[in-house]
Amino acid sequence: MKNSKAISVKINGKQVEKTIPTHLRLLDFIRNHLKLTGTKEVCGEGECGACSVILAGKIVNSCLIFAVETNGSEISTIEGIAKVDELSEIQQNFIEHHSVQCGFCIPGMVLAGEEIRKENPHSTRDEIKEKLAGNICRCTGYKKIVDAIENN
Ligand code: FES
Ligand code: FES
Repeated sequence: MKNSKAISVKINGKQVEKTIPTHLRLLDFIRNHLKLTGTKEVCGEGECGACSVILAGKIVNSCLIFAVETNGSEISTIEGIAKVDELSEIQQNFIEHHSVQCGFCIPGMVLAGEEIRKENPHSTRDEIKEKLAGNICRCTGYKKIVDAIENN
């Protein structure tokens, strides 16, 4: 098909091969083609972090990337963070600290938290706040989100 391309990516440990339009955003590929709807769209222009995914080990805004650009890469979405019956420590912390209100920003916040902890498991609160600068929450006031990410 014209303006389509076959891509092969590993998503949450599973190899996926699809032929997709070249203009398809990674966000739409993940949500509409793969039905992984934990990844959210809010601003659609790289400002809010709701669409965060981990691409080749780095957190990115999937609304700003064409899916075809990820050919051959490894991607993790929020669905890939928990083990089958077991939430990650950070996911569990979000529950225990009551860090979720509407929940729309939370997949991106959890992924950002996983990245922050991976970089430095003992990041200070100020470092956590600085690294969360690309993730916007309109409900919680952030304190409980930082509580959930902090390793104490
Ligand atoms: S929807 Fe991608 S950064 Fe807001
Ligand atoms: S919990 Fe509603 S936007 Fe963060």
